[in-house]
Amino acid sequence: MTVSYTPDTTAQTPDLATLKRIFARPTLTSPASDPDAKARLALGARLFRDRLLSRNQSMSCATCHNPNRAFTDGRPRARGNDGTPLDRNTPTLYDVRYGNSFFWDGRASTLEDQARVPLEHPRELNLPLTDAVTRLAAQKYYRRTFDRAFSMRPSITSETVLQSLATYERSLNSPNTRFDSWVSGTTTALSKSEATGFRIFSGKGRCIACHGGWRFTDDKFHDTGLPSTDLGRGAIPGSNAAPHTFKTPSLRQLTQTAPYMHDGSLPTLEAVVDHYNGTRIQRPSLASELKNALGLTPNERRALVAFLKTLSFSSR
Ligand code: HEC
Ligand code: HEC
Repeated sequence: MTVSYTPDTTAQTPDLATLKRIFARPTLTSPASDPDAKARLALGARLFRDRLLSRNQSMSCATCHNPNRAFTDGRPRARGNDGTPLDRNTPTLYDVRYGNSFFWDGRASTLEDQARVPLEHPRELNLPLTDAVTRLAAQKYYRRTFDRAFSMRPSITSETVLQSLATYERSLNSPNTRFDSWVSGTTTALSKSEATGFRIFSGKGRCIACHGGWRFTDDKFHDTGLPSTDLGRGAIPGSNAAPHTFKTPSLRQLTQTAPYMHDGSLPTLEAVVDHYNGTRIQRPSLASELKNALGLTPNERRALVAFLKTLSFSSR
């Protein structure tokens, strides 16, 4: 169930029952419902971790999208195969199945199209897809597994490699969290301060204007006033997007995905909240919700951070 929310800055904050409906997590399924998809998923999981897919066999998708860090790498910006930083921070892959555009600037519209980019990028895996197909076809394991997962012959093609990776990515549902228990009725799942933080998120803090819904994103692009010179979606020909706009990221599993923002410039959640509460670069593209100061007190900022942490599963 998805409840859409159109932010209206003149309206009062919705009541708690309405808010809970906006953020209720649906029952998530896995793409592996039929045997074919199951075989593709297993194949994709293997390809995702296989360094064979990089020219000099030095990295895989999992090098940057580490499953133990919610599929991120802990670096401000990803490290390229030459050891120097790429342009942007590595985003989580949780719940990508439910997104409608990929990359911080949304320049890929399917996961299959997206996967081709890091595979062939000279500073990432640096392996043209046709070469990847040749390499995989030379291995008995992959010949057998692709034959099982796909009916066409030959079964190892550019398309089936991308499809396998994408099928695996579509299985990466974020874990259930304390916030989800609270929304579904367990009132003791959040402390008083965490629940206060949620009210600030949905009210005075105006975070809900862009981070509404169970994935905490509107899937749109905004300028949040960071000093970075990256034009984001504004640099994409034909997008007509304003400069400095980036896709609103999900806020799930934040405790594992620091540092934050497209440039990894904010090391902690406290720094993120201080950014929204403090100096945003005032320029014409700055999102209208962020033009005026929030005026959050130190206690309110602490409560907001405490709430953000409840969107992560931790085994503590
Ligand atoms: C060198 C590090 C690195 C490697 C290797 C890498 N990625 Fe990424 N990935 C990134 C970075 C950085 C971004 C964001 C780039 C941007 O937005 O311009 C990204 C973005 C993505 C996204 C978009 C997520 C979103 O929410 O928009 C997906 C999906 C993805 N990568 C999958 C893959 C797959 C599949 C592979 C292997 C074929 C891979 N990545 C290899 C660093 C890496
Ligand atoms: C106008 C839309 C908008 C509003 C309002 C907004 N955000 Fe964001 N948020 C974004 C966008 C867009 C990004 C990515 C910005 C970038 O990297 O340039 C982001 C990034 C973040 C991140 C970093 C996530 C990551 O994985 O890097 C956090 C945490 C966050 N926002 C929390 C909040 C909180 C808390 C509030 C309220 C005080 C808030 N946001 C208000 C749009 C918004």
